[in-house]
Amino acid sequence: MPILDRRLPRLLIIGVRKGGTRALLEMLNLHPNIAMVPVEVHFFDKFDNYQRGLDWYRSQMPLSTDAQLTVEKSPSYYVTPEVPERVYAMNPHVQLVLIVRDPVTRLLSDFAQIEASRAAQNLPNRRFQDVALLPNGEVNTQNRALHVSLYAKFLSRWLHVFPRRQLHIVDGDRLIHDPYPELQKVERFLGLDHLIRRDQFYFNATKGFYFDVDDHANYYPHHYHHKCLAGSKGRRHPQVPDEVISVLRQFFAPHNRKFFAMVGQDFHWPE
Ligand code: A3P
Repeated sequence: MPILDRRLPRLLIIGVRKGGTRALLEMLNLHPNIAMVPVEVHFFDKFDNYQRGLDWYRSQMPLSTDAQLTVEKSPSYYVTPEVPERVYAMNPHVQLVLIVRDPVTRLLSDFAQIEASRAAQNLPNRRFQDVALLPNGEVNTQNRALHVSLYAKFLSRWLHVFPRRQLHIVDGDRLIHDPYPELQKVERFLGLDHLIRRDQFYFNATKGFYFDVDDHANYYPHHYHHKCLAGSKGRRHPQVPDEVISVLRQFFAPHNRKFFAMVGQDFHWPE
């Protein structure tokens, strides 16, 4: 009989917000050697949680066997300055996964999410361009959501603390269109047998996403199904004039190239 216990994560999905973190976590959970934490624990980025200590963090973990690797994801880990060192203090050998996506698409997705929560608070809708650009047409570099798309900026902190080989980067744009090869790469990175199968997914053309064939409700467990999939994933992005998109693309281009050089991987985001 395998011994069930709560174990600290050996893998963290550290971000990036709106990169596809939920889909990646749920898809990895199809692997029998993976035990996922269904909620975002925010242990390393929220001071109050961090102060509760590692025993509290462990108590938030699911039961797992010693053949399983526990995975937690909290997308704000990536951008919170204190997190890399706190993670290192838990386990210097922990494995890290970051999922990134074309930074302009990510920004549109983030904006759609922020506007949805503003609407829920009865705050007025804003136009994307009024938030992302200044009145003189330049990029509003003070905007928080825009900041999150500056991937290279945050990466240096992580690479200051962890060796590059401990970090795997998933292409979030590819995960949407063809998840299987991206999942195989994660299995390889984790040293797991290739047990996630291509036939475990089907493409839902209406939603534009892949779903788990066997048990839809299991892939997006009940509360997520409504909260995330129908709600916060696949939201309509704002309609934005082409000129605005091209100003943003020009702005991000040098940052993207820096990111590609740092990770040694080119994601071919449009310029
Ligand atoms: P959109 O809602 O803008 O389409 P996160 O989970 O980090 O918040 O990321 C959300 C994004 O995950 C979604 O952004 C969506 O594009 C992406 N995604 C990738 N594969 C998905 C899938 N199979 N189901 C739902 N969303 C998926």
